[in-house]
Amino acid sequence: MSESTLIRKALAVVRPVFRLDLRDGIHGVSHWSRVWFHGRRIAATMQVNPSLVAWFAYLHDSQRHNDGRDPLHGHRAADFAARLRRERVIVELSGSEFEHLCEAMRLHSDGHTESEPAIRACWDADRLDLYRVGIRPLPRLLCTDAARHPLTIRQACRLASGLRRAGD
Ligand SMILES: [Fe+2]
Repeated sequence: MSESTLIRKALAVVRPVFRLDLRDGIHGVSHWSRVWFHGRRIAATMQVNPSLVAWFAYLHDSQRHNDGRDPLHGHRAADFAARLRRERVIVELSGSEFEHLCEAMRLHSDGHTESEPAIRACWDADRLDLYRVGIRPLPRLLCTDAARHPLTIRQACRLASGLRRAGD
């Protein structure tokens, strides 16, 4: 399955259940697409299956109840993924990759920096988009070499802000 087909499939299952502002929200589809952009690049440097970071990008915030404090949203996202796995929607991942996906989602907002490469790739893909809410990602709070690179952070800030030189 091509990556674009996977993304279309993910959007088709997430869109009907998403409770917040899909188009303009800080946890909506533009955030998911940037997380996927970052995650794909990080995954390529770490021999991580890009399908894993694609599912993370489009699922990890899909079960939020609000755009603020919602500490269980990652757990709900993992539960949702388990349902999609049972229904044979998520078929691109091995058993261990699927476990990594769920673990990455459960813990993604807890600030951890140590775990399996696939999980760290997912966390950093999300953290690189923090500038959309005015937070510049700090290298010491990232957990992959690819994401910590100054050019990566600068580009991510620029992408998140939509301003050409905002990350400089
Ligand atoms: Fe996120």
